[in-house]
Amino acid sequence: MLSERMAEMLNQQIQKELYSEYFYLSMKAYFADENLDGFANFFDVQVKEERFHAMKFFDYVIQAGSKVTLETLEAPPNTFTSAEDVFQKTYDHEKFVTESIYKLVDLAIEERDHKTNAFLQWFVNEQIEEEATMDGVLKKLKLINNDPNGLFALDTELAKRVFNPPLA
Ligand code: FEO
Repeated sequence: MLSERMAEMLNQQIQKELYSEYFYLSMKAYFADENLDGFANFFDVQVKEERFHAMKFFDYVIQAGSKVTLETLEAPPNTFTSAEDVFQKTYDHEKFVTESIYKLVDLAIEERDHKTNAFLQWFVNEQIEEEATMDGVLKKLKLINNDPNGLFALDTELAKRVFNPPLA
C-alpha cells in the first residue's frame, strides 16, 4: 500500500503523462497541417510513448493497492511559429517531466518506499532518452535555420521513427 502522499503524487504524474500525450498530439496536428508528414509521424510515435508512460504509472498505482483518480486535462497549445518553436517546447516539457520524476524519487527515499523507488528508476532512465531525443532534433533544427531543403531532409528522417513498446 502506498502512503496517501505518494498515491496523490503518482496520480498527478499519471495526469502529467496524459497531458504529455495530448500536448504531442497537438504537435502532430500542427505538422500534419504543415504537410510535414515525417514530423507528424515523429509525434504520432511520441503520443504512443506517452500513453505507455501514463499506463505504466496507472497500472502501478492499482497494483500497489491504491486508487487511480483521473481529472480534467488542460488544453495544450495549438499554435506554433516553427518546427524549432515546437521542439524547444518539447525539450522544455521533457525537462519539466524529469524534474517531476525526481521529486517522486525524493519522496520515495524520504518515505523509505523502496518498491516505488525501484519502479521509478525505469522512468529516471527513460527521461535521459526523452530529453536527448528532443534536444537532438532541436539542435538539428537550429543548424537548418528554416532552410527548406534541410527541413525536407529532416522530415524524411523523422518519417522512419517507429513505436517499439518497451518490454518492461
Ligand atoms: Fe513521459 Fe516524455 O515523458
